Amino acid sequence: MARETDHGPNRGHPKHGQREAEMTQDATDPQDDKGPFGRPIFEDPSARALSRVGVVDIGSNSVRMVVFDGAARSPAYFFNEKVMAGLGAGFAETGRLNPDGRRRALSAILRFAELARRMGADPLTVVATAAMREAVDGPEFRAEVEAATGLSIWIIDGQEEARLSAQGVLLGWPEAEGLVCDIGGSSMELARIANGRVGRRLTSALGPLRLEGLGSAKAMREEIKSTVARIAEEIGTGHRRLFLVGGSWRAIARIDMIRADYPLHVLHEYRMNPASLRTTLAHIGSRRIDELRAETGIGEARMSLIPTASLVLKHLVRVLKPREIAISSYGIREGLLYEQMPQRLRDRDPLIEACRFAEQKDARLPGFGRALYRFVLPIFKGEPDSRKRIIQAACLLHDVSWRAHPDYRHEACFDNATRANLGGLTHRERIFLGLALLHRYKNSRQGTRFEQMIQILSEKEVAQAEVLGKAMRFGAMFSAQTPDTLGEILWQPKKRHLVLQLPEAAEDLFGEVAQARFGALVTALKATPEIRRGADH
Ligand code: LMR
Ligand code: MG
Repeated sequence: MARETDHGPNRGHPKHGQREAEMTQDATDPQDDKGPFGRPIFEDPSARALSRVGVVDIGSNSVRMVVFDGAARSPAYFFNEKVMAGLGAGFAETGRLNPDGRRRALSAILRFAELARRMGADPLTVVATAAMREAVDGPEFRAEVEAATGLSIWIIDGQEEARLSAQGVLLGWPEAEGLVCDIGGSSMELARIANGRVGRRLTSALGPLRLEGLGSAKAMREEIKSTVARIAEEIGTGHRRLFLVGGSWRAIARIDMIRADYPLHVLHEYRMNPASLRTTLAHIGSRRIDELRAETGIGEARMSLIPTASLVLKHLVRVLKPREIAISSYGIREGLLYEQMPQRLRDRDPLIEACRFAEQKDARLPGFGRALYRFVLPIFKGEPDSRKRIIQAACLLHDVSWRAHPDYRHEACFDNATRANLGGLTHRERIFLGLALLHRYKNSRQGTRFEQMIQILSEKEVAQAEVLGKAMRFGAMFSAQTPDTLGEILWQPKKRHLVLQLPEAAEDLFGEVAQARFGALVTALKATPEIRRGADH
């Protein structure tokens, strides 16, 4: 059954077929994509063809359109709008779509279709999930919407919904491993992911709207219990990580964040351990809805689903025993974007691509980040690749905040890095990146408002981010030069010996300020310095 729908929504979609053909024709040498400094993706014709990809997700709670734009490998949200239409509300009693939901959904989709046309994002890829696939008037509503808008709607089955959602998680997190769980209004889908692939999938009726239709609290509990037991049997337990997708899970994570006074309010990649989540779920159980709303600012329609969703999550965590729980803001819509990418785009690192894009768009000297990375790398020779890619990201971003007021530039850098709408990096990595960039512009971080966040890092990470920042700060002094006259740093970690090899062409640039910056790097490394002059390398 899964194979039947493998390319479900896009099969036979004329624009996608055509786009794929153009991409093949214009394809650059695949080698270009591979090296650490392959051609930036946004210059690639296939990336341009992929910009402005519009998708509409007709869910049981919400109807949403996203238009992706820009660096294709890392989604930029050119447009993102959601209406909580509630198509699945009342389904258990009537077996039909909610009449008010139908009206609101139709008017939202009419607006989306018109906007997409004006944005050049048509034809839209439109998928509909549980409410429409189950309601008796689903086909009729589909015909009504198609006639009114000229769009084609793919009503996907639960297997396909699970696959697309898991694909979305993989888009931001190519290395993700564990179990994806996407909760909607009328259903809940699960999929295993490992080695960049989606594995076993299943669908269930554990959507909060559906459960509430069961009438009594007892019936609801029983349904949850027996369904979770079946899920455990079919998909296994003890997963390394449970990736939560869907608005209701995000709302619970927000409550967890606020309760734990967690300083970085980014939901994507937010992690919870089972014990702390249990405390939050108990907290939700003990509060009134209006109290929770006042504490968190979550909207009424969403909050009304939270007590039931919490109950589902409590059972899931208890029975499936994941080692860790993480929120993914990427789900079905990003999965639809992923569907439209050729493999060689998928293979790229979403973080690095987004940073290259930012450099190209905002740096004073686009391209210097690459030279700077090469320059600082000797200090970090022994680091694992997972760290090197964050260092590379920092170098690419080292100057994108140059327009900010000099007195606040270091803070702007920290904010940009930690709050950026990026995939492919953990919260710790965000903070590391932010701290390194802060020190790119400022020696001391005394008096900054980031202490609480910086404490999330280990002492070693803080020291390393500081060294990186200072190395970039020094290296940036040579940015007027062509990269190959940047000079060279040699670092012997055992002896803590730092050699600066200064080519003749850079001699005049090594002025007072540059020397002071070099001194700051030496201090941060607790190194003995040596300057070798004149030797061209
Ligand atoms: C839905 O079924 O509407 C969900 O996928 C998304 C939501 O808003 O809960
Ligand atoms: Mg959904």
